[in-house]
Amino acid sequence: MKNSFGNAINISLFGESHGAGVGVLIDGIAPGIKVDEDFIAHQLTLRRPAGKISTARREPDNFVIQSGVFNGYTTGAPLCIFIPNTDARSSDYTPDLPRPSHADFTAREKYHGFEDYRGGGHFSGRITAALVAAGAIVIPALREMGIYIGTYIKQISNLGFSSLPHDKETLLAVAESDYGVINENDLSAITDIIERAAANGDSVGGKLETAVIGLPAGLGEPWFDGVESQIARAVFGIPAVKEISFGAEDISMLSGSQANDQFVLKDGKIITETNNSGGVQGGITNGMPVVFRTTVKATPSISKEQKTVNMATLEEVTLSVKGRHDPCIVPRARIVLDSVAALVIADMLTVRYGSDALTGK
Ligand SMILES: Cc1cc2nc3c(=O)[nH]c(=O)nc-3n(C[C@H](O)[C@H](O)[C@H](O)COP(=O)(O)O)c2cc1C
Repeated sequence: MKNSFGNAINISLFGESHGAGVGVLIDGIAPGIKVDEDFIAHQLTLRRPAGKISTARREPDNFVIQSGVFNGYTTGAPLCIFIPNTDARSSDYTPDLPRPSHADFTAREKYHGFEDYRGGGHFSGRITAALVAAGAIVIPALREMGIYIGTYIKQISNLGFSSLPHDKETLLAVAESDYGVINENDLSAITDIIERAAANGDSVGGKLETAVIGLPAGLGEPWFDGVESQIARAVFGIPAVKEISFGAEDISMLSGSQANDQFVLKDGKIITETNNSGGVQGGITNGMPVVFRTTVKATPSISKEQKTVNMATLEEVTLSVKGRHDPCIVPRARIVLDSVAALVIADMLTVRYGSDALTGK
């Protein structure tokens, strides 16, 4: 099972939901990036479940940086972060009853029963803690370069919310918010929907919008390593992500004259009047905000009874999933999206400007 992405900076994930822990190996990172352990802890807190709209599993996420950092700075050697598991409850999982729309069945087919099925094993959303820790290494360096990333909730179930402006203050506010929401009324509507689904033994999905500002024009390669391709590849790695789109929503409905981003001059610089392309043309950044929307499906593990098949006896049975699950993954996924976007951007900057791109050394 190969589990990595990145061209200049390679990110590999390891671990299982109910094993010793989860972690990340970052290879190719520049030397001299200041590592802020409080910021890593803070980012992990934003991913951690909280309140009634999340799973009851509580992990302290006491991460350990095992290599690649010395005297508070990256050394340039492979950087490994390990996050131990402390609150796993494996008795909630039955090896032979695959949860509908989780990865239990496909993992069994691929790994012939050798997979660690407990809590979804290596397919668990828990592994995203490692992505968030990795993202927290590069996000401060990107901010130093004037690059800001924020992801906010655009839709939960059938309830949509307005887009936010793509400016530094808003993106920082949303990045710092508990759930990717900066309007209290929106938050209470979201909480209501999620709690109602949970009370019904069900779950809900939604959409998130991510914006990255401050990028130079010229990042990304044509064709298969374009900005859209690289972001999409990494974002589709996040469990429960089913769709990603860049630029204007429903761009298919716009005519050429509506969709085209017309060039204008601002302070002597070529910019576009609109940003329907989401900051990317020909796979390459044009200097406008890179904007994408991600659809996250409803959590598969629900207590409502559903049909499944016992993989050992081949009997049709019903399953009500026990254990502690998020009734909605969307609020927790947004910090994972920020982190993944940051890692892809850091990689693309390193490809274009060299191994010291993140430090300017
Ligand atoms: C942050 C996060 C938390 C998740 N928590 C749960 C959970 O509590 N229960 C669950 O069934 N799925 C959860 N998932 C989703 C599953 O891991 C995912 O649906 C499953 O691995 C199958 O992958 P797929 O949906 O991409 O096909 C979570 C995903 C993320 C990103």
